[in-house]
Amino acid sequence: MSIKILTEENKIILKTKNTMYVMEMLHGRFPVHLYYGKNTKNTDFNFDNNYRSFSPYYEEYGKSFSPDTAPLEFSFFGYGDFRSSALKIFNSSSGSDITDFIFRKAKKFRGRKEISGLPYAEGASETLELIFDDAVTKSELHLYYTLFNDCDVISRYFTLKNKGKNDIRIEKCMSLSLDIQNKECDLISFQSKYFYERHVCREPLYQGNRRITSRRGSSSHHANPFFVIADRKATEEKGEAYGFNFVYSGSYLNEIEVDQNGTVRAMVGLGDECFNYLLCADEEFTSPEAIMTYSAKGIGEISRNMHSFVRSHILPADVFAKRPVVLNSWEAFHFDIDEETMVNFAKSAVECGMDMVVMDDGWFGSRRNDKAGLGDWTPSHELFKNGLRAFVDRVRSTGVKFGIWIEPEMVNPDSDLYRAHPDWVLCADGREKLLSRNQLVLDMANPEVIEYLKASFDKCFEGVNIDYFKWDMNRNMSHPESPYLPAERKRESSYRYMLGVYEFFRWLRERFPNAMIENCSGGGGRYDLGMMKYSTQIWTSDNTNPQDRIKIQYGSSFGYPASVMSCHVANRNSEISDPKLLEFGFRVALNGPLGYELNIINADASVKNTMKDQIKEYRKYEDLIMNGEFYRLKSPFEDGCYAYYFVKKDNSEILLSYLQSESDKKERVHRLKISRAIRGVIYRDNLSGLEISGNELRKGITIKADKDGKYAKMFHFTLYGSGLKY
Ligand code: GLA
Repeated sequence: MSIKILTEENKIILKTKNTMYVMEMLHGRFPVHLYYGKNTKNTDFNFDNNYRSFSPYYEEYGKSFSPDTAPLEFSFFGYGDFRSSALKIFNSSSGSDITDFIFRKAKKFRGRKEISGLPYAEGASETLELIFDDAVTKSELHLYYTLFNDCDVISRYFTLKNKGKNDIRIEKCMSLSLDIQNKECDLISFQSKYFYERHVCREPLYQGNRRITSRRGSSSHHANPFFVIADRKATEEKGEAYGFNFVYSGSYLNEIEVDQNGTVRAMVGLGDECFNYLLCADEEFTSPEAIMTYSAKGIGEISRNMHSFVRSHILPADVFAKRPVVLNSWEAFHFDIDEETMVNFAKSAVECGMDMVVMDDGWFGSRRNDKAGLGDWTPSHELFKNGLRAFVDRVRSTGVKFGIWIEPEMVNPDSDLYRAHPDWVLCADGREKLLSRNQLVLDMANPEVIEYLKASFDKCFEGVNIDYFKWDMNRNMSHPESPYLPAERKRESSYRYMLGVYEFFRWLRERFPNAMIENCSGGGGRYDLGMMKYSTQIWTSDNTNPQDRIKIQYGSSFGYPASVMSCHVANRNSEISDPKLLEFGFRVALNGPLGYELNIINADASVKNTMKDQIKEYRKYEDLIMNGEFYRLKSPFEDGCYAYYFVKKDNSEILLSYLQSESDKKERVHRLKISRAIRGVIYRDNLSGLEISGNELRKGITIKADKDGKYAKMFHFTLYGSGLKY
């Protein structure tokens, strides 16, 4: 069994494949954290309070326990823990915001508790439930620890039940709290801005509080919810590290606080600024799920745990046996699309061996630019004289699948929808509305809006053969208030907005079960586990410049598998006719599901043939990219290049990429060590014919950087013969 409740010792031990987690209910009452690390036979962990002056204690237990200095499983505001707390509740009848939850009971059960309305991970092994009571508010707190044994992930979430007679308010909600002791740590986060998503940021943690947060109503381009806390000396392959993430797509808060004793408290949740929830008598609230993983073998192992967690427990089942190679119309034509152009586009896709054409923005209502029509989900009669169905049949008759762009959550003020329902957008009473890309945000917390969307998409796509939706979301939320919600629930707007979004996602998947969803938010503005629950892949960034993409792809690889990262070869500045750049763009794109985004209708036969060959080559590696185990070797933030490899579980196949993100006047020589190569066998690189032993691969192969940059080199090693002994 993976969960042991040792009643006599007041201890609980959780085990996954390689990790162990130990806690104690000190004095039968306080949830004290003892250990999170590699699996060991030693279970002799004991609480040793690091008492400091000015920390309060209970008379009954003396200085053996202070809420301020003990490593805790969860913490509450105001009862003597001066560090940042996980839960803050306001008791409206007494005016107090202090709680003191006391442990009552521990239970365990197979599988997990479902979280109604929210995305959550499936296929859990076992769950621990801890129950606590607060005597004054009469509320009951249930903390859950759900184990995903196979990938060394433990998820955390809680249910709060108001069992009293009075209303309470949840003022701070953190799903996960972990106190890591006795370590000098670095924080690794994935931040930046639109067009430059998930840039890697490593910083030492010192005493104090650090927040990584989004108040944008989306998980954002600016600060991804995934983060790592690692030993200061941890590398890709060595040292201890902890990874954290949130199964949610809206505003969130990650809080990392180092206290006076050097204990690092890491918390993940909805936070305090963008969340506030009224819990009336007899109501209950369950937080979104947060996850954590531990590795004793460096940061690379954190990534591999996360990759396998996302693939096995988050992503929806694939709709197609193989991911379609798509040709998307956006960078080719922007809004300048019509039936004949799209049909010709489809014909050229077929010539190049692509599987699907995606018609991006501009196909509905009066949407001929980004100023009008958003919200009016009626195919344009002007563009498709015989209707959408006949048009899609025409496209499909050329031999490709068909995908289409949608942006359900938004509206242009210049639209029939807004003219009919100006009260259906997020806004604050008496305040001016702010535009972003000429659009406003629909009030997804209003059930009427969700019903409108269901009815319009149902009608629009009735009988139309859609294989793929690209669901976009092109602005963040100012004045994030739902006019629909009453005053006392106004501050739930952002959270209830997300419930509406998830409900519509679930509806779309059920209504069109044969269509896969690609998620997008101006590129990778919602690159998170909540979106991944419903979308097979995500548009990584609007930035398709391969050199910039290298950094974005590198950063994305820390928390998310390659199989979700849409990689398109694109046509900024018509560079694609240059064979060198077409080759470089393709090598960079071989890091996820492949696509193209450029006008190839009149491309030379040589360009089309090159693409055809590229797709054939991609198909050879596809399985390894989608399902292989992943190792980073060089960082574009430090080395001017990105080197990484995918390896098959049994080490018999290796795909090694070297991508240069900048020119290197010094022409540095990089050694790329393949630690997963098998000793004593010979591998053959199918691209160059090179034969090389596993021992040599482990020592590393060398590559000299290119002076001018835009250079890529790739090796596809398979066992030579049947893995002939060396
Ligand atoms: C966003 C997306 C693009 C494209 C446009 C269409 O910017 O990221 O890929 O779909 O919207 O308006």
